[in-house]
Amino acid sequence: MRIGRRKFLAAGAATAASAQQPVVRLGIVGAGGRGTGLLRLLLRMEQVAVPALCDIRKENLERAAGFVTASGRAIPELYSGEEDYLRLAARDDVDAVIIATPWEWHARMAVAAMRAGKYAGVEVPAAITLEECWELVQVHEETGVPCMMLENWSFLRPNLAVLKMIRAGLFGEIVHCHCAHSHNCLYWYFDPEGNPRWSGLHLARRNADQYPTHSLGPVLSWMNINCGDAFASLTSTATRSLGINHYFRKKFGPDHPSAKRRWKQADIVTSVVRTALGNTIVINNDMQLPRPYDNRWMIQGTEGLYDEARNAVYLSGRSPKYEQWKPFKPYQAQYDHIWWRRLEENVPDIGQGATDYLELKLFVEAVAARGPTPLDVYDSVTMSAVIAVSEQSIAAGSAPMPFPDFTRGRWRARKPTFAVEG
Ligand SMILES: NC(=O)c1ccc[n+]([C@@H]2O[C@H](COP(=O)([O-])OP(=O)(O)OC[C@H]3O[C@@H](n4cnc5c(N)ncnc54)[C@H](O)[C@@H]3O)[C@@H](O)[C@H]2O)c1
Repeated sequence: MRIGRRKFLAAGAATAASAQQPVVRLGIVGAGGRGTGLLRLLLRMEQVAVPALCDIRKENLERAAGFVTASGRAIPELYSGEEDYLRLAARDDVDAVIIATPWEWHARMAVAAMRAGKYAGVEVPAAITLEECWELVQVHEETGVPCMMLENWSFLRPNLAVLKMIRAGLFGEIVHCHCAHSHNCLYWYFDPEGNPRWSGLHLARRNADQYPTHSLGPVLSWMNINCGDAFASLTSTATRSLGINHYFRKKFGPDHPSAKRRWKQADIVTSVVRTALGNTIVINNDMQLPRPYDNRWMIQGTEGLYDEARNAVYLSGRSPKYEQWKPFKPYQAQYDHIWWRRLEENVPDIGQGATDYLELKLFVEAVAARGPTPLDVYDSVTMSAVIAVSEQSIAAGSAPMPFPDFTRGRWRARKPTFAVEG
């Protein structure tokens, strides 16, 4: 079904249960590790109904259905066919579709949701090829239906405080940023016997920054990407691929298939983005070597910088002594974002998963209001397109590759909307 942009926005709020909290009816596609985690957080929101669930693995589907009924909600309709997401999206009693399936399914599932007039909330990355990125943009523009990639690190409490500090001018004019996804994910790419899961198979097929969105989540808003500036070109350089073979050789011996297989994926990919204004962003992808988790966010301007790893800032004229770091903590308190203050007031026991809860709550509120989502389709595809463009650059011996302008020049006039406090 295709609907025009105006018709979609005029369709009004989702079914009203109460004046304050209209019910938002969600269909969930993909009830594995992440989909189940998202579902359990969504079930904590009174205004959320879950009339339909879809997963090709019956045990995952039934486990998810169990969480829905245990929350006191009606038994959802269950779909288990590979293409059943189409039937779920077509239901009249669904306002939005949450997608937490393997990467290769994301774009087509989000497209199906938008074409059926349902908000798409799609896990990271939103797409894995440039064709898919453009299709998401085109279908969004045709239908007027929002599509938001569920990039949780855009909503992390310190990252939002840093955004407010940038907007308050504390760092002066921004020129440079660093970010990383340094996270040993072999446990996620492989099963306990060392066989690649669907995710691990991507490591055999491609050499790229295959998971750039957690690094870039906060960076897009920090640097006004797609609203004042834009990614212009990208250069990527890859190391050798040693980590996977080394790990499985040590664990299972030299004859284990994963110890012998040739993995295309480099251990570490370092990309440099040059923006249209002439700023730079370094992005590290580092997911197969043994190491603690690290994002190494750093943002620097003409008046100073924020360094996440040091949990510190340096502000020219405000830091105690020339060239000395200052703790970030007091700034975090002073520039705390209203989203987080509201969350603490309204859901004081949220505990672990607070960032994911906040992200989902904002998505649900956008659906209820028939309004824009906090991250839009342009943010979603810009972060995701780093996969394909980094792959091109590595294959071309680290040559700079032009970065697609998904806004088609509108980034010059677009104003920042993400996390703007009213
Ligand atoms: N934002 C985060 O912090 C975060 C964390 C973990 C995973 N993720 C993302 O979430 C997504 C899912 O990851 P996961 O760890 O849950 O993987 P998973 O393998 O545990 O779950 C994927 C689920 O999708 C189902 N599935 C596969 N094809 C399907 C189809 N055609 N229709 C319906 N269901 C289908 C599988 O049966 C499985 O239950 C990935 O994109 C991953 O990158 C994000």
